[in-house]
Amino acid sequence: MLRLLRHAAVASVAVVVLSAAGLAGAQTPNRTEILLKKMTLEEKVGQLVQRAGGRSKSLNSRLDDAELERVRAGSVGSYLHVAGAEPLGRLQKVAVEESRLGIPLLFAMDVVHGYRTIFPVPLAQAATFAPDAEERAARIAAEEATAAGLHWTFAPMIDIARDARWGRIVEGAGEDPYLGARMAVAQVGGFQGGNALRPGSLMATAKHFGAYGAAIGGRDYNSADVSERTLQEVYLPPFYAAARAGAGSFMAAFNDIAGVPTTANRELLRGTLRERWGWQGLLVSDWGAIGELLNHGVAEDRKGAGLLALDASVDMDMIGGVYADDLKDAIAKDPARLKLLDEAVLRILRVKEQLGLFDKPMAYHDPEREARELLAPEHREAARAVARQSIVLLKNDKLLPLDPARLKSVAVIGALATDGMSSLGSWRAQGKAEDVVTVLKGITAALPTRVKIVSAAGADPRNLETSGIAAAIKLVKASDVTILMIGEDYDLSGESRSRSNLELPPSQIELARAVLATGKPVVVLLANGRPLAITELAEKAPAILETWMLGVEAGNAVADVLFGAYSPAGRLPVSFPRATGAVPFYYSVNATGRPADPDLAKDTVRYHDLPITPQYAFGHGLSYSEFRYGDLSQSTQSVGPGERIDIAITIENIGGVASDEVVQLYVRDPVASIARPVLELRGFKRIELGAGQRKRVTFSLTPEQLAFWSPKGQWLVEAGRIDFWIGASSADLRANGSFEITRTHTGTAPAAALPTRVIVSNFN
Ligand code: BGC
Repeated sequence: MLRLLRHAAVASVAVVVLSAAGLAGAQTPNRTEILLKKMTLEEKVGQLVQRAGGRSKSLNSRLDDAELERVRAGSVGSYLHVAGAEPLGRLQKVAVEESRLGIPLLFAMDVVHGYRTIFPVPLAQAATFAPDAEERAARIAAEEATAAGLHWTFAPMIDIARDARWGRIVEGAGEDPYLGARMAVAQVGGFQGGNALRPGSLMATAKHFGAYGAAIGGRDYNSADVSERTLQEVYLPPFYAAARAGAGSFMAAFNDIAGVPTTANRELLRGTLRERWGWQGLLVSDWGAIGELLNHGVAEDRKGAGLLALDASVDMDMIGGVYADDLKDAIAKDPARLKLLDEAVLRILRVKEQLGLFDKPMAYHDPEREARELLAPEHREAARAVARQSIVLLKNDKLLPLDPARLKSVAVIGALATDGMSSLGSWRAQGKAEDVVTVLKGITAALPTRVKIVSAAGADPRNLETSGIAAAIKLVKASDVTILMIGEDYDLSGESRSRSNLELPPSQIELARAVLATGKPVVVLLANGRPLAITELAEKAPAILETWMLGVEAGNAVADVLFGAYSPAGRLPVSFPRATGAVPFYYSVNATGRPADPDLAKDTVRYHDLPITPQYAFGHGLSYSEFRYGDLSQSTQSVGPGERIDIAITIENIGGVASDEVVQLYVRDPVASIARPVLELRGFKRIELGAGQRKRVTFSLTPEQLAFWSPKGQWLVEAGRIDFWIGASSADLRANGSFEITRTHTGTAPAAALPTRVIVSNFN
């Protein structure tokens, strides 16, 4: 690994100069440099220390006297898991008025998919295939969080995840690096209010840098052992894109990659991130991860662990206290290390300056603004819009949408239909269950009062309790239609929620079997934070909506879709396998010598006991309308370095219902010096089309977007044919073509990180 990374060092990778760059070489010392000169060693180390408001991850912004003494002494740079304009304002006052140098504190929290107005979980937001929706959600989260005194969020999580057993798959954008990069950029821009930090921003954190999502077996915190090519082509592109988008902060991952714990991975952190990518923001450790270098067995003691992390350019120690307690002596005696410390301090001070904290430390502490912003009606409205965009129609045997005018009675079955907590999902910041419009409430509000609505839990997703099924079945039998909500409750996905089984919890399977056995019309609402293996359900249920964990407006969004006020158009950002044993399972697999053959059970890349196809493919999602893809054209047959090709197609809504459609562009390099993936996403656009309306969608690709990481450790664009497809999913390709790349040349950046320009034009 290290050897390969060294190769990367000599590769021509573009150096991106970000706003935070340029530590050295300033002619006139600026404010942060002047400040640095006045700081004692203790005060410098203090800036590197992040402490928690509470003992655990619970929130506590009112700190005790001993903690306030630490602030006065300048021994703390930042607090996490704190919030509230007023209590944090008081704390900030202590820092700026009562500490010797008056350096303000940074206040941080995991504001992941909303602060008080909780939006869909990130995996669901990725299903919108609409970066502008993600950006809007992040912006609103930032408006609320900054009003509540926060400067910094530990989001977005942009780890690519291809193993659905990993519980944290819910926190990211799924399996694809191109989609992941677009969503990373959207979120960074949304949180920060643009791609440079400025006063009032909520600083974004790209996490967890490098390949945390590649944990072996999907077991959280486990080692990753990916090839250098997979690292460069799959796991790093969203991070490169986030760095370019100006993310003020990065977080190093807990795990090791091929034996090198990321917190001590000098090559990756200092080498790739800072030197080759030119990113000079604030790099924070994960929770206690510096101390965990001892567990990894790469440091003998805490001092050694601290030095490894500092050397790798980890600026801030989240919670572990290693920098605080064990670094000073080692640094004091060593001028080279003092320089590393000074650099880290400067990076932290600079972020504080960019956020405006030196000039207006109280700007984030206006309780009236806080009261106005939290759960503001327009924030709820946006949460509803994003939630309905996140819903994916997996299957529909002409059952949906339901026509309220024809309904007399509806049964809403399933404990999750009344479980507000589960709608909030993992990392709910200040979200509250009582804020949630549950599915039962949403359905009740959407239907005329003459419709009889009955409900029952039937079975609890948290345990094996199924004694309520008989009562539920009576209601099903007595109703025109049943809405059955089943799946994972909020506690089954998220950090340290890895599962060895992707099937529905047993009680939910039993409930579904009983309800479907009645033969009555049933719409299944799936609630989950990961792809599930639902072969039986997929076969038996007439209609299935993937509703993830949709946030505070879950019920209204679901009702909008159920009763046809909104045509679903979300797409799966992850493949749904047919069985747990099929994971890792993803669409963008390499070409092999014996490609999987649907008709041959033996001798090709497949399982004997499963079809070769996914249950539901990456990019899959139906709607209430139909679309014709036609008139494919391309601007050229060949492209060279610096040139681009425009690929255009006309999409017509022929289904008679206004609906969005997500148009997807896939590519393949069919003959290269190394085996390439059979399909790679390189463009997508969610477009709105009225009934009968047509639009022309043009994708502009450059050869550099076809580069691969060569065995020599560089981005290489090889001359030769490239095939492309445009379609409605990775398994529903509607039109295709090809073009030539005229000259072999080197690329400058991870190919999947580069955005494809898309233009949508109307016909009159
Ligand atoms: C998680 C991070 C999170 C941090 C602070 C850690 O356990 O891995 O993603 O930001 O805690 O809450």
